[in-house]
Amino acid sequence: MSLTGWVSEKGPLSAIIEENLYLCTVTIFYEADTTEMALRLSGTLRERGSKLYRLSSGVLEQMSTWRRSPCDAYVFLLAKGEILIKHASVNYLRATPYRQGYKPPLFWNYDAYYIIALIDPSSLNPRDLIGLYNFRKTQNFLVLQPMKSHILIWTHSLISKIPVLEFLDSWVNGSFLNRNRLFAKKFEDFQRMPLRVATFEFAPSVVYARDESGRIVTRLGVDMEIIQGLAVIKNFTVEFVEVSYEEKWGTKYPNGSWDGLMREVYDEISDIGVCNVFIDDFRWTETDYSYPYNFMPGCFVTPTPKPLSNWQSPLLPFSWNTWVSIGISLLVGGPILYFMSVLYKAPGPREFRSLSYSYLYFMAALTTRPLDAVPVSLPTRIYMGFFWIYCLIITTGYSANLIAFLSVTQKAPPIDTLDQLIKSGLKLGGHSFWKTQFEISTDPRILKLASLLDTNVDYLGVFKAVEAGKFAFVENKQYLELNRDARFTYGDRPTIRIARECYLSYNVALILPRNSPLTDNLTNALLRIFESGMMTKWQAEVTKHFREKYAAERSKVSTEATDINQALNLGHVQGVFYIMGLGYVVATVLFVYERLSKK
Ligand SMILES: *[C@@H]1O[C@H](CO)[C@@H](O)[C@H](O)[C@H]1NC(C)=O
Ligand SMILES: *[C@@H]1O[C@H](CO)[C@@H](O)[C@H](O)[C@H]1NC(C)=O
Repeated sequence: MSLTGWVSEKGPLSAIIEENLYLCTVTIFYEADTTEMALRLSGTLRERGSKLYRLSSGVLEQMSTWRRSPCDAYVFLLAKGEILIKHASVNYLRATPYRQGYKPPLFWNYDAYYIIALIDPSSLNPRDLIGLYNFRKTQNFLVLQPMKSHILIWTHSLISKIPVLEFLDSWVNGSFLNRNRLFAKKFEDFQRMPLRVATFEFAPSVVYARDESGRIVTRLGVDMEIIQGLAVIKNFTVEFVEVSYEEKWGTKYPNGSWDGLMREVYDEISDIGVCNVFIDDFRWTETDYSYPYNFMPGCFVTPTPKPLSNWQSPLLPFSWNTWVSIGISLLVGGPILYFMSVLYKAPGPREFRSLSYSYLYFMAALTTRPLDAVPVSLPTRIYMGFFWIYCLIITTGYSANLIAFLSVTQKAPPIDTLDQLIKSGLKLGGHSFWKTQFEISTDPRILKLASLLDTNVDYLGVFKAVEAGKFAFVENKQYLELNRDARFTYGDRPTIRIARECYLSYNVALILPRNSPLTDNLTNALLRIFESGMMTKWQAEVTKHFREKYAAERSKVSTEATDINQALNLGHVQGVFYIMGLGYVVATVLFVYERLSKK
């Protein structure tokens, strides 16, 4: 094939660009042997303009070369090609040693159109290119291979684990032979290609039904149904990869590597990671996300408020400042009566001339046990008259409220807000994900929360610790609700409680390796599943499954008496006995004191 055959206005390169990539910015890379060709091609593209680069590692590892426009086309004119082969083999996101907060430059454009012309077929074969790391992730890829009188046009098929060459068309005598679409979509039908899907059991998103030997029989939950739905729509098969339950979504190590589900995807071991993965900034640069298909906030689960210990019940009808006010009125009222009686020297009962009798008189009025003595002088009578009105109101209020407090079981106030949570003294726990999320907050209270959060949590045992009143635990609301309803609701009484104030609403999505060509192709199908409304049905199914699974365990505990007995038991009124006991003790002490001092 002559030089002009390649690059004339009627040549295959111009034809491909003019017919398919009319709106794209064209960049031409050439080698020493193809300089003249590049200049001519650039000449034929004169009207639309093109960038020209002499191919070298320096040029390819320079951000300006890869500056993006809405549509980019890269034409490589290769005689030898070793520079491109080397460049296309490198994963630039991982090429430099990890440094925290450093985002490595990406010397590739996975959305662009790549047209590779092999000028010297004896030194370079299309097969040398298709398996290279970056080409495997690039959908729009053509290789032009000259034969004697025509040019073969190839692409690569990505729906197999090892990319294979796919013949598209040939250029003969100035035109395409078959007129096939050159940049057709590559992931319309996966033709039963196996995709590795990493996941782990985490209800209600992923729930396994197992047989006696522990083998997984069916996979339930929204996330599993989504994968199975996608597999039907896109015609792929699924190889599930089980991530360790201890590692779960994974934690980032200081050296930048991950464990858990993130490792599967970050290291490109699995094609998809699924298990209630939240879309967040922290992982955004490490993986691709699909469209979100679920939404949920993170909340704390706390113990249900415990009944208050009952010795306090006589104190409960009044708040503390009411008690203090009553105490002051007593403290002041007694002496006033005493002084009035002493100062006026009025006729009347002598008893009022005693300070302790005045106090007793006041106490009697407060407890609606009036003593026989009545003051005689007018001012004292007016004074006492008003005091009796005061006592009437106080005692009526107290006794009415006391009945109310004794007839319902008193509970400690529930934990609903962040402040209550921090003050509660409960140990706080949650997956390390939550810690990283709280740590980037600007709210000092949330930062405090982050510092208190213990990330070393055993998910299986943690609810028991919450139930026992020792722990509060943060997780997504759906997960907490499921556990509360299925495992910790006895009859109609849950023993754990979800705090009303929740934090950070998250979207849930699939994760895929960074720049995976599957991301766009799968997520359109995902959106269709989401719009069909099947999520709600799947969610209801898994809750039902879960409640049945734990029915036996719940009924075992629920027989524990949950008596709602209206008769006042000793527990309700024990405080009164304490008061009486206190009276005995004080009286005895005074008695002993008096006996001794008389001697
Ligand atoms: C799925 O792929 C297989 C294998 O290529 C093919 O035989 C089958 O027709 C495809 N199914 C659908 C529904 O496209
Ligand atoms: C990073 O650190 C973890 C744990 O310290 C280790 O298991 C892993 O191999 C390290 N990864 C690399 C790439 O050094």
